[in-house]
Amino acid sequence: MASTTSGTDPEALTDAEARQELARLAEELGRANAAYHRDYAPVMSDAEFDALKRRNAAIEARFPDLKRADSPSDQVGAMPADGFAKVTHAQRMMSLANAFDADDIREFDDRIRKFLGFGPEAPLAYTAEPKIDGLSLSLRYEDGQLVQAATRGDGETGENVTANARTIDDIPQSLTGAPAVLEVRGEVYMHHDDFEALNARQAALGGKTFANPRNAAAGSLRQLDAAITRSRPLRFFAYGWGVLSEPLAVTQHGALDHLGALGFQVNPLTRRCDGPAELLDQYAAIEQQRATLGYDIDGVVYKVDDLGLQGRLGFRSTTPRWAIAHKFAAELAWTRLDRIEIQVGRTGALSPVARLSPVTVGGVVVSNATLHNEDYIAGRDAKGAPIREGRDIRDGDWVQVYRAGDVIPKIADVDLSKRPADAVPYAFPETCPECGSPALREPGDSVRRCSGGLICPAQAVEKLKHFVSRAAFDIEGLGAKQVEQFHKDGWIAEPADIFTLQGRYGSGMQQLKNREGWGEKSANNLFQAIEEKRDIAFERALFALGIRHVGEVASATLARAFGTWEAMTETLDRAAAGEDAALAVLLDIDGVGMVMAEALIAAFRADAPERASIDRLLSQITVIPAERRGAVDSPVAGKTVVFTGTLETMTRAEAKARAEALGAKVAGSVSARTDLVIAGPGAGSKAEKARALGVEIVDEAGWRALVGD
Ligand code: IVH
Repeated sequence: MASTTSGTDPEALTDAEARQELARLAEELGRANAAYHRDYAPVMSDAEFDALKRRNAAIEARFPDLKRADSPSDQVGAMPADGFAKVTHAQRMMSLANAFDADDIREFDDRIRKFLGFGPEAPLAYTAEPKIDGLSLSLRYEDGQLVQAATRGDGETGENVTANARTIDDIPQSLTGAPAVLEVRGEVYMHHDDFEALNARQAALGGKTFANPRNAAAGSLRQLDAAITRSRPLRFFAYGWGVLSEPLAVTQHGALDHLGALGFQVNPLTRRCDGPAELLDQYAAIEQQRATLGYDIDGVVYKVDDLGLQGRLGFRSTTPRWAIAHKFAAELAWTRLDRIEIQVGRTGALSPVARLSPVTVGGVVVSNATLHNEDYIAGRDAKGAPIREGRDIRDGDWVQVYRAGDVIPKIADVDLSKRPADAVPYAFPETCPECGSPALREPGDSVRRCSGGLICPAQAVEKLKHFVSRAAFDIEGLGAKQVEQFHKDGWIAEPADIFTLQGRYGSGMQQLKNREGWGEKSANNLFQAIEEKRDIAFERALFALGIRHVGEVASATLARAFGTWEAMTETLDRAAAGEDAALAVLLDIDGVGMVMAEALIAAFRADAPERASIDRLLSQITVIPAERRGAVDSPVAGKTVVFTGTLETMTRAEAKARAEALGAKVAGSVSARTDLVIAGPGAGSKAEKARALGVEIVDEAGWRALVGD
């Protein structure tokens, strides 16, 4: 490849040679770019790429008139390592809770009625529409002009794919009669026949083919070169909206009609339904048409039709209360289980994985499936009751694989009539296959765990992968693959090492640059990406530690509750020292129970190796204190409130959700820590206690006035 980067000195080229050379460079750089981004299979190193670009620029400098319209020099912002710019969504992009059967749908309806205080007979309409299996996109229009298109990302921050979205025919560039600010949300997807044609084209060119239309749509939209996206037949259905300067309608179906009138494609199978029975009818009707639609759908989405009610119902942390996705039944296939392997996770859990003879399940080739835990393999549940009528799973068995949506494929059943004569029951390891430490199973836990802690290389590397993952430190250019390699080579053993990497290996960039897959540019970018994450939000830093039971939601809750890292560690230190009051502070936090509290205390205990590792990390980073959500303009933010007595204009669930959305904590009983009691008619002992403690008491109208409802 090096030969292509050199060649005749630009100064010595004739006009014709320069023209030819610029054409060759445009083609070669275009191919390298596509290989890197579209196929994830680079055909040259970053250094070679850079050298080609420099040569291209030198020739252009000498022959400015010959500069091509598609000059690689003009694609600087879109070159590989730069990636897409990040976009913070003005309004978070939510996901949907799932339902799988008719009972789930009736419960969904019951829950909503209860929340709103509606009786079983009160009219309550929904919309039902197909759940498109693509990727979501948010389009922002200002004064009728498309100004930004962003992928969902983690819901808060997505990628700016505006140039690419402009190439999609279903996405209008301008709108007439739209609100001044309009964010349209919907799904980018690909038709089956377009997908087949694309794969055939890719195969003919020797390029990468896609496993399914969804991957093809995602791969095509996330192209740094919009010209590639333009060549891909992407489509878009609008199903919702984000920020609006004025309402689109008063109902969901009215709003969709409005979007349709503005020029968006709205799914024609959308119906307004008068309750669960009609929703289920529409589900059946859509399912029946599924195979002939020409594009993939993976369920039906139900939404409360009245937008006023949607507003009252609001959101849980990541999903709306007013909508649910009714998923189609899982897809099934039979195949041979070649062998059972054990993977050791970040918390030491030994997870059995079935290595399968590859089989297509719902259009995706599956060669691995989870086997959950040793009981599942043995054919019993956590309480010892039989599953699969007690049939166990062995190496060599003929097994039924299923997958639903995005989830990891699972093994549903085993065909004993096809069991090889020499198959033996699977003996689950009692020592860690990675480090040899005893693998223990605590009473009541279905999982066996390696007791090696940080000495176990598998745990260490999984912890590191978790540390750099998207919801944690999210370091650009440092993904699971790179972490694995760095760990294997002994460059990083724990999170703190990531921040000393440049000091240790970056001098003159030689060591990193010389590694396979790294050039000067990508090495520099990596060090810069690491530097950018030295200041990190509290909740991300905490989540990144990968403490058992402390997930994303819990980390955010703890960050909001403590505000600063120091306040949290101080409480944990005191709790570890046996101070009951400190433990009470932890348990007082809504969402923190004894199991989580103990896990936190154990990780932060002064003598725990984990704590030493955390402290080394903290000496490298600055944790940004958490803002209390809603604190800006809510008079009840950070306050502890208690509702008692009968509420007349809202249900208890609604009141609680509203208070929490305003940053208040809702407690069940009155204590000296209570700031405000909202007492309706019939309030008894709680109101009395509040009076005795001198806690402020208001009635429901007073509460509404206070919070501006
Ligand atoms: S509504 C706040 N409607 O499904 C409500 N989502 O599992 C947000 N999706 O991220 C989603 N078709 O990408 C909605 N008709 C539809 C949809 C739909 C597909 C996707 C969407 C979302 C995911 C949630």
